[in-house]
Amino acid sequence: KSYQVSVLVGSLRKDSVNRKAAKVLARLAPSNLKFQFLEIGDLPFFNEDLEAGETPAEWLRFREELSASDAVLFVTPEYNRSVPAVLKNAIDVGSRPYGESSWAKKPAAVVTVSPSGIGGFGANHHLRQSLVFLDMPVLQQPEAYIGGGWDMFDEQGDIKSDDTRAFFKSIIDAFGDWIERTATTS
Ligand code: FNR
Repeated sequence: KSYQVSVLVGSLRKDSVNRKAAKVLARLAPSNLKFQFLEIGDLPFFNEDLEAGETPAEWLRFREELSASDAVLFVTPEYNRSVPAVLKNAIDVGSRPYGESSWAKKPAAVVTVSPSGIGGFGANHHLRQSLVFLDMPVLQQPEAYIGGGWDMFDEQGDIKSDDTRAFFKSIIDAFGDWIERTATTS
């Protein structure tokens, strides 16, 4: 059975190590997982006044893309020990209108990549706090707080170390198993 996995990267910068990591995870994944990277940088800031009027087209597009997917992979940096605002905004946009969340029940995995040895632990767990409320079953093991992100990739965006690549593979394989066990769509 094949599954559509939406990928949300919590960094907008061109050379983002989190985006590189997300691409590697997609490449190493079991072949029944199909990935689509969702654009979150163009979503207008969530504002309840905008809900009352005509819904922004970017919000509608994002919600439709999410609703059409079976699972969600979050790959994000840590900003000030928490989730970057652009990703939190996407979470809020996808959670509305009230009672019509596009996130509900979709299996998720959270990967954080940082130059620091702490590996984005703070952002990883702040994100998990929201995912509890959004009723998303989140992969628990292996935990993916990935440090040393600035030295991890070669010019082509491949992982330099075989051990690190094997760890990435173990994450995405575990997520594939998790999706098979918990997906409620398709
Ligand atoms: C950071 N960075 C950072 N790193 C970390 O491990 N913990 C943190 O709390 C923060 N805080 C933080 C705040 C802000 C505003 C910025 C811009 C950066 C550093 C961050 O991990 C580093 O820039 C990463 O390379 C960002 O990820 P991408 O863009 O490479 O994917």
